[in-house]
Amino acid sequence: MKKIAVLTSGGDAPGMNAAIRAVVRKARYHGVEVVGVYHGYEGLYNENYKPLDIGSVGDIIQRGGTILYSARFPEFKEGDYQEQAIERMKKAGIEGLVVIGGDGSYRGAMQLTEKGFPCVGIPGTIDNDVPGTEYTIGFDTALNTVVDSIDKIRDTATSHENTFVIEVMGRDAGDIALWAGLAGGAESILIPEEKFEIEDIVTRLERGASRGKRHSIIIVAEGVMKGHKLAKQLEERTGVKIRTSVLGHIQRGGSPSARDRVLAGLFGARAVELLIEGKGGRAVGIKNHNVVDYDFKVAFEQKHQADLSLYTLSKELSI
Ligand code: F6P
Repeated sequence: MKKIAVLTSGGDAPGMNAAIRAVVRKARYHGVEVVGVYHGYEGLYNENYKPLDIGSVGDIIQRGGTILYSARFPEFKEGDYQEQAIERMKKAGIEGLVVIGGDGSYRGAMQLTEKGFPCVGIPGTIDNDVPGTEYTIGFDTALNTVVDSIDKIRDTATSHENTFVIEVMGRDAGDIALWAGLAGGAESILIPEEKFEIEDIVTRLERGASRGKRHSIIIVAEGVMKGHKLAKQLEERTGVKIRTSVLGHIQRGGSPSARDRVLAGLFGARAVELLIEGKGGRAVGIKNHNVVDYDFKVAFEQKHQADLSLYTLSKELSI
């Protein structure tokens, strides 16, 4: 393998730049050239490539976002687009592709591999919902951003004796809500993986009030419902004014945590090794502290599950 390409796709995540850097540096270490593909699969289709040398990925390990930009390109699901992209990559001398993104991005990489072009997937999304790995690049940083926000909201909630609903991202996954809720000492955590009863939240609020506690933090994952809707339901039930804070895209930005940078380094390096070893069609991940890789199909069978023991623990710790 003499030349490979790398792209980022789907929602950006802190640590994607560190992963791009790792791919480029590891490939150059082995004498392999790297081409950066700009704007995800759309750029791949439109031949939006630029060579990436060692210097071009200097000073990005600490930067959030992605220097390669990211885009959603639904047309790429169609076979014609994929075949054209393969032809164009081959014309440019590119022999393998590293895709950094979520499960949607993995599907494109799997289809390109099935059509004969070797691709490797690196899990990058704040949602922590990619199959075949316990953790994704970006989750840890987003988690710390959310915990920092909860701490700040708690200061004012305590001073003014307010109850807050805080809506966090995660798409259909509850990992951000669960981990941040536990780390931030939330009184209630609502995640899509677990059914909830409004009465249960009300009971917790009332129990707190009966022992003189007049502030409370309720974390709701966006996959459950809108924070404002939940606050309205609680207001109707309790007669108490409930504030809502929707953290939004602040969760996607910021300098990656040390943990995300290390994950990015491990994943980027392994992805390049796999391509050099001629093993396309693999998704890299981490399991029990070890870097692993699976055939895309096998990875898709291992749907990511939030650690529900944390949910039970959060209930026990927020009595
Ligand atoms: O997948 C990352 C994510 O931030 C999700 O948590 C969220 O649901 C979605 O992307 C938001 O996407 P967009 O920025 O396109 O609205």
